[in-house]
Amino acid sequence: MTSRDLVRLDTGRTSLVLSLRGHQVPRLLHWGPRLGDDLDPGALAGLLAAPRLASVPDAPPLADEPPALSLFPEHGFGFFGQPALLGSRHGEDFATAFALQDVERGQHSLTFQLEDDIARLGLRLELALDPVSDLLRARSILINRGDRPYQVEWLAALALSLPETFAQALTLAGRWAGEFQPVRHPLSHHGQFERIGRYGRTGHASSPTVVVGEHGFDEHSGRVVGLHLGWSGNHRVLVEVRRDGSRQAQLGEWLLPGEIQLASGGTCETPWVFAAWSDRGLTGLSQGFHQYARSTLLPRRLYAKPRPVHVNTWEAVYFDHDVEDLKRLAGAAAAVGVERFVLDDGWFGRRDDAASSLGDWQVDLRKYPAGLGPLIDHVRALGMEFGLWIEPEMISPNSELYALHPEWCLHLEGRERPTQRSQLVLDLTRSEVSEHVFRQIDGLLHAHPIAYLKWDHNRDLAPPASAGRPAARAQTLAFYALLDRVRAAHPDVEIESCAAGGARVDFGVMSRAERFWASDNNDAVERLEIQRGASLLFPLEVIGAHVGAVPSHQTGRITSLAFRARTALFGHLGLELDPRQLSAAETAEIKRHIATYKRFRQLLHSGSLWRFELGDPEALGQIVVALDGSEALVQLARLSQAPFSHTPPARLPGLEAGANYRLELVEPWPEPAASHLANPQFWRAPPALSGAVLSDIGIRLPLAWPQTIWLLHLKRV
Ligand code: GLA
Repeated sequence: MTSRDLVRLDTGRTSLVLSLRGHQVPRLLHWGPRLGDDLDPGALAGLLAAPRLASVPDAPPLADEPPALSLFPEHGFGFFGQPALLGSRHGEDFATAFALQDVERGQHSLTFQLEDDIARLGLRLELALDPVSDLLRARSILINRGDRPYQVEWLAALALSLPETFAQALTLAGRWAGEFQPVRHPLSHHGQFERIGRYGRTGHASSPTVVVGEHGFDEHSGRVVGLHLGWSGNHRVLVEVRRDGSRQAQLGEWLLPGEIQLASGGTCETPWVFAAWSDRGLTGLSQGFHQYARSTLLPRRLYAKPRPVHVNTWEAVYFDHDVEDLKRLAGAAAAVGVERFVLDDGWFGRRDDAASSLGDWQVDLRKYPAGLGPLIDHVRALGMEFGLWIEPEMISPNSELYALHPEWCLHLEGRERPTQRSQLVLDLTRSEVSEHVFRQIDGLLHAHPIAYLKWDHNRDLAPPASAGRPAARAQTLAFYALLDRVRAAHPDVEIESCAAGGARVDFGVMSRAERFWASDNNDAVERLEIQRGASLLFPLEVIGAHVGAVPSHQTGRITSLAFRARTALFGHLGLELDPRQLSAAETAEIKRHIATYKRFRQLLHSGSLWRFELGDPEALGQIVVALDGSEALVQLARLSQAPFSHTPPARLPGLEAGANYRLELVEPWPEPAASHLANPQFWRAPPALSGAVLSDIGIRLPLAWPQTIWLLHLKRV
């Protein structure tokens, strides 16, 4: 028996404890509530030691120690589950068995250095626990110490063993116009489930995210762990239950065959995994992710000023651009309180539909005879910022660029080039292509006072190939490099990550962007749930949320302006409509909603978010509470008709039990629900109530009719 030791990382609320035993790969003993400082290593390991098997009744248990889950499970130790590394040198060195050589201990970080002298591989496992948000950040780095290349098929960024009590998982599935849909998976049997994204971008269909927790975990209860891979390319997220009941989660890049050929002396870094732990269900996880995103991940300049109200021209005019018409649209937008005008697709090349011109980033002089300058000047004279849509990673086969450089797209020589939305993807892994794209963007930003880029990416990568080899990974890295270069050259320009809605939303891209476009679906009934799903990971200030026109361009549904505006309020609000199409009454109303957004955006974009349930899945509640507890804003929403006319009182989480709050039912009250208020006089001047009453008893508002949202403001007195 070699000596045992513990290493640990602590925050004010949590501890992460790993056991070290000689040269063995470290094992996770505990990640959860903060433990005392006087832990006895032997005692903790003793408490948690797994029972051994007896093959014959009454016989003494077998002496063999079953191969247990470690921080890097491997075939070389006779482990039969999912290994953290799959790779070989053309079949050799496929089963690794790393030995721990060194542990570097930082104040909030641990780095383990491991070596496999037989397979001639080195490995670094890096872990850091953020003391502010309690978030764990981890990645792996593999080093080829052999003299022949090593082919990596799978390298987990993190392999996290999970408590045996974790019996359910939740992932975020989706499709175009239906992103961030939570799906539950039982973990009752031996086996494994995985979600793979092979789209070459994060994708609509599977966010690189999984939550695992105790049976029945919900918004406010249950121990849960949430894991997210900060990566905008192919990914794989898996949860495995082994035959002995032990379980693990692994996240990493999904690799194409032969995609990583590690040369002699070469290293391969995985993306970072971000993991949150909570004993307060999903809302507790979200608060950890949001806190980390705000304090560490998101660009600082996002917080330098309030998130401006947008108008985006896409659904107002599509490709039908006329500069004088757009000036009038801008005027109408400014008049209702809009602060940033974003000129969407249709301004360049000969872009009269989606079938041409990507790559030709010169202004279309048929539509803008004097270039973009007059429109930009007009927008700025109205007191608004100017933003511009681009899709710089793309090329249309019908474009001048393609005529000049057909070889510049990702393709396989001699094979078809399958288009999506009539477009192909530029091969950013070629330095001349990246250079050209940078020059195009740089030129636009130098030529005009552009404050904002809506950076789109409307298709999946197929084939993700460059020079005959798989290049999905290299393309993702080249995209990051391009974006970083643009940001460094133009540090004042804000960037929105858009990909046919929310197909490129993850912590990788969001460390380089101020906003994401959550979905092309602006139907508020569906958008409410899409934004709720996105808020699992992201704080409201980066969730682009627009008031669309009716009937909805995506679903044909007609909803009230109040319902649409109050949905967009819990995000970064904008308009996705032509304000000139609104009636006089609607114009007056939208002004009020925009004023409400401006009144509350500081609170919404800095406070802590608590989602809550209202008794049936068609009713949704959320509250944002100021960090100092001084105020809060509640959104009570109903999507479709309630099963009963007496909807249950909404019990409000997150308030200080002992504090008193003055209530204000924010106007305009939603019709027809307001006409069902039993006691409108009461709600015109409600008394102050304690946080305890509001959370234990709650408030009851008429919430039986479909498509109703109430807003309630609470001010501590
Ligand atoms: C994508 C975006 C939309 C819009 C169009 C323009 O679909 O998600 O918001 O910008 O492209 O082509």
